[in-house]
Amino acid sequence: MNSPTDTFQRLLRELRISVTDRCNFRCPYCMPKELFGAEHHFLPRSSLLSFEEIHRITTVFTSLGVRKLRLTGGEPLLRRDLHRLIAMLAEIPQIDDLSLTTNGALLTREVAEKLKAAGLKRISISLDTLDDKVFQSMNGVEFPLGQVLQSIDHATAAGLAPVKVNMVVKRGVNDQAILPMARHFRDSGQILRFIEYMDVGNSNGWCYDHVLPSVELLQRIHQEFPIEALPSNHPGEVAKRWRYVDGAGEIGVITSVTEPFCEGCTRARISAAGTLHTCLFASHGHDLREPLRSDASDEQLRQLISGWWQQREDRYSALRTQQNTIPAKIEMSYIGG
Ligand code: GTP
Ligand code: 5AD
Ligand code: SF4
Ligand code: SF4
Repeated sequence: MNSPTDTFQRLLRELRISVTDRCNFRCPYCMPKELFGAEHHFLPRSSLLSFEEIHRITTVFTSLGVRKLRLTGGEPLLRRDLHRLIAMLAEIPQIDDLSLTTNGALLTREVAEKLKAAGLKRISISLDTLDDKVFQSMNGVEFPLGQVLQSIDHATAAGLAPVKVNMVVKRGVNDQAILPMARHFRDSGQILRFIEYMDVGNSNGWCYDHVLPSVELLQRIHQEFPIEALPSNHPGEVAKRWRYVDGAGEIGVITSVTEPFCEGCTRARISAAGTLHTCLFASHGHDLREPLRSDASDEQLRQLISGWWQQREDRYSALRTQQNTIPAKIEMSYIGG
């Protein structure tokens, strides 16, 4: 079947699958502990897509044009035997990029090696500061910084390269960490990416004052360590790339608030419960679990997904500034980042 295009002629090229809605962190901007406490109901196991279901739906997506696959969460390493799923997905010939986004808390040397052996190509690890105290308060569970730094090294040593380090920048909270982070990851081969704080979900109390525009961030870095722009690796790449003029490596900025990149957005997301979302900021989705579990054929699944994609009009970030009323959105820990 031909690859479908949406109402803005965008193809379907990337799939991001959330394998669990649970997380062992409680970052205030994502799963604030007041809202995600002991009484919070996470999905029961039976509601999660099984590895077999994830594998099958991925093959259907590849027949519609998907070539890039990323596993997310919640925290994906909380899903038991994740390496088994990775081994299954790595066998799909059309997938030429298989990656994972994690908070790094469970990424020991053994886990990193197991993931690599199973066929994982790359990994992104979230880290918002190098100040242990700030880090412990930002992850909401007092998780020590040193262990995440070790995880980044384990991932690098295991060859999950290039390792990317994702820093969400919130003005007045961790923007003091920009230069120390830049200094730390220069010359390491690891690629630091600065993410503008976004208004995902409904629970993080987002307001524009918390956003540090990437233009300002790049100026701060440039004053200390001169940088120059690099071309994209591929069309529709989320991060804009920059390199240190002195050859100390590359950084990236993800400007979803100040310079939205919806125009080239070829990403679909599947939540842990098997709902397809055609935008990170979607307020609704399309259920794939029911047809998967009621014996729909691959062709029927293809028709369904293709039809949804052809109706797609999403460009939330591009519209954000013009919008007065924002509909209820899905939490990021549910839909996957
Ligand atoms: P690469 O394949 O390495 O280019 O990864 P990536 O940058 O697509 O993936 P990653 O999970 O590391 O993305 C980093 C962050 O960018 C995510 O956590 C989100 O905060 C943000 N992001 C990714 N995709 C989108 C998107 O489609 N829209 C918006 N608004 N933000 C996105
Ligand atoms: N804005 C920007 N990025 C966010 N992430 C989580 N919540 C937000 C937000 N409000 C990032 C995490 C991680 C990825 C899964 O999504 O820091 O890098
Ligand atoms: Fe933090 Fe990521 Fe967990 Fe959200 S999913 S609470 S951003 S570690
Ligand atoms: Fe894609 Fe939606 Fe992000 Fe725009 S806001 S880049 S349409 S996921």
